Amino acid sequence: MRLTIAILALILSHTAALAHAVALAGAAASSSAPFVLGALIAGTTLLYAAGLARIRAQIGVRVVTRGQSLAYAAGMGVLVLILLSPLDTYADALFSLHMVQHLVLALVVPPLLVWSRPVLVMLWGFPRGVRKMLGAAWHDGGLARLITGLMHPVVVGVLFSSAFVFWHLPRPYAWALRNDWAHALEHTTLFAAALMFWSLVIEPSGRRRMGLAATTLFVAGTSLVSGFPGALMLLAPAPLYPVHAPGVAHWGLTLLEDQQLAGLIMWVPVGLLYLVPIAWLFVRLLADRRHQRPVTSGALPVIALALLLPLALSACSETAPRAEEPHAQAKRLMTRLGCGACHEIPGVTGADGRIGPPLGGMADRTYIAGMVRNTPESMERWLRDPQAVSPGNAMPNVGATPAEARVMAAYLATLHE
Ligand code: HEC
Repeated sequence: MRLTIAILALILSHTAALAHAVALAGAAASSSAPFVLGALIAGTTLLYAAGLARIRAQIGVRVVTRGQSLAYAAGMGVLVLILLSPLDTYADALFSLHMVQHLVLALVVPPLLVWSRPVLVMLWGFPRGVRKMLGAAWHDGGLARLITGLMHPVVVGVLFSSAFVFWHLPRPYAWALRNDWAHALEHTTLFAAALMFWSLVIEPSGRRRMGLAATTLFVAGTSLVSGFPGALMLLAPAPLYPVHAPGVAHWGLTLLEDQQLAGLIMWVPVGLLYLVPIAWLFVRLLADRRHQRPVTSGALPVIALALLLPLALSACSETAPRAEEPHAQAKRLMTRLGCGACHEIPGVTGADGRIGPPLGGMADRTYIAGMVRNTPESMERWLRDPQAVSPGNAMPNVGATPAEARVMAAYLATLHE
């Protein structure tokens, strides 16, 4: 009884806080959306509370643990905080804040709510007659079949990943920011797909639709796909989300800074957020393996690989461009400008020409074409315009720009005997 009172008090106080936030946000936004949202949150919360009370009174068995009912309160509290507080207004101004909001909406609130077994508890929130009607619709009305179909892992995986990626592409994103209805659709579909995804991952009832090993792979795969928008934002050389220009200016950032911050948030913490369920599933899988059937033995290496893959990939994509870029670019340039037709150049495929001197060991030569001292400056000048350096020599001007000459000179400076 004490527990029920405590939970009710918690939920009530949070409903009061909610009403307050709704009033605030409503006044700020002067639109009806916050009121609808607030009413929805308050309504479902009351239903959950009623369900808890009725379960307690009629079954007497603890169907959800104290942690689970607290998870509900926490999930709803966070939801109110990100959607109905002034934070929402800032999210409209700053792209990076908006991304935090989306991440919380997709990766923090839904697992908390799913963990609290809302469907079961809320069902008990209805009076007996309504419960019977819902039960009939579930079994006879085909609702069960519909839900089973919708909750197929492939359907859920595709829905969740595509909702997450789609709404973060520049065009749909800009559309949602300009149009209130599209914005509501964006948040609703993200949230709904996330609830489906986390239901499959957590399965609070204990009856799994997917084995633990398969679920681990499912989460790892989804985390890879979900990393895509973050990577796009972080690596794009130009601003892709110009709708935020006024808000960004107000905060003293540039569009690109805001976008890179968003990309960083979307990429790194998201990867870490996904590691939580992966680790949880992995531990359960090991326990399962130790105590029960050794069915999953073959899956363990696969899972270990899946665990490492996101890390490996993010490591590659972070170091690869920096470590390899200058020389890969130089080699591409030399191929494009046809240097290989006249020179043997180590590391450049097909560069085996015999008209000019071989360029292997160029870094150790004191003179360029026997004319000027081999310094970076004179090498760049030579590559830009060999005829100006040594009029009449047999190397034609190949039309390299100063920037291209610098990249190629840098590579030639690494070619030792
Ligand atoms: C049509 C043939 C031809 C093409 C194309 C050509 N070169 Fe040359 N290059 C020469 C010849 C011939 C020389 C020797 C000039 C001399 O010594 O008077 C030379 C000399 C050089 C030297 C100085 C070599 C030394 O030993 O001092 C460098 C460096 C060089 N080329 C780099 C390049 C690069 C890089 C490209 C492509 C952007 C390129 N060349 C394209 C014919 C060519």
